Amino acid sequence: MIPFAKPIIEEEEVEAVKRVLESGMLAEGKVSRELERQFAKYIGTKFATVTNNGTTALSTALEAMALEPGDEVITSPFTFIASANSIAMIGAIPIFVDVKPDSYNIDPELIEDAITEKTRAIMPVHIFGMPADMKHIMDIAESHDLQVIEDACQAHGAEVDGRKVGSLGHVSAFSFYATKNMMTGEGGMITTDNEELFDRCLMVKNHGRGKQGGYSHFRIGYNNRMMDVVAAIGIEQMKRLPEAVKQRRKNAHEFDEFFSEFESIKPQVEDKGLKSAYHLYAPRLYSDKMDRDGIVSALREQGVGSRAVYALPCHKQDTYLNIQQWRWAKFVDYPDYSAVTLPVSEEIGSRHFDIPVHPSLTDNDKQQIKDAFTKILG
Ligand SMILES: Cc1ncc(COP(=O)(O)O)c(C=O)c1O
Repeated sequence: MIPFAKPIIEEEEVEAVKRVLESGMLAEGKVSRELERQFAKYIGTKFATVTNNGTTALSTALEAMALEPGDEVITSPFTFIASANSIAMIGAIPIFVDVKPDSYNIDPELIEDAITEKTRAIMPVHIFGMPADMKHIMDIAESHDLQVIEDACQAHGAEVDGRKVGSLGHVSAFSFYATKNMMTGEGGMITTDNEELFDRCLMVKNHGRGKQGGYSHFRIGYNNRMMDVVAAIGIEQMKRLPEAVKQRRKNAHEFDEFFSEFESIKPQVEDKGLKSAYHLYAPRLYSDKMDRDGIVSALREQGVGSRAVYALPCHKQDTYLNIQQWRWAKFVDYPDYSAVTLPVSEEIGSRHFDIPVHPSLTDNDKQQIKDAFTKILG
């Protein structure tokens, strides 16, 4: 089976971890500082701070944005549930706005209608590595005085007009989960140009300590720190990232060209000026022959690792259908998510599936994937 993801771990990662283990200094420290320095430089922001995963990168940043219980954050329903959960975790309310059929990303045309007097922020998600329409979103945010937090957890290396995602909103979050374009097993990063917000992130992620550390505490915070053992893997992974993204893009464009011959397959569209990081390659199926679950099984039978990751968009998940059971429901008026209908997200949910696009695919693998489609749909 060609795996849907294949993390690259080589001698460099092993040696880097060994050096930290041998140093005896395992917790967040100077190796993490070096990863932050390199990551901020790569993304193009003034500041970056590591976290223990992408979810805590999001929740730390949201908390540092000083959101209050009951504040509304507009986001995409077509995403990994962590995007929405990071909002709900801190007592804010995720307001789901439908996505565009070609990009699978939040539709800016629908955002204004969802803005109320309780709206404080917009969280676009660059889904599968495809940048959301940030220019449009930042214009809306500016005209309504809203903050923008990019969920860039799947989009390391994606660009809008030559600028990396993660540098386009007011603050951004990345995940280094084991299957991501750049990975440390578990891990995350917050990036921003805003020094005040950054300082608050440092406090939220580290028990309310000030920059100088020690045992003076200034607010309630958490322990969302990364280990230097983990950061050491990140530094090695960063060296591979630009080339890995290039290779993902090459593979994706090769598939785009191949699928242009298929009426029944519609890939995610990369609009002008956008560069997807192709964390996943996830087209939609429009076939009379079989449904989406049928093609996933048929591809697996042909040795192609395929899945449908967000068959249920967030508003259709039990988490949100049963939101009254969440502790914040005692204090916060949640919408009735069962009454929410978002047709484009639901349709993409029912039609998309992903195929391997990772940089370790060989020419033979790619041929095997194409042959599988010809056999199944040709
Ligand atoms: C879009 C999105 N947001 C948030 C997260 C959360 O990241 P993590 O799994 O590192 O907590 C992920 C991770 O899969 C993700 O894909």
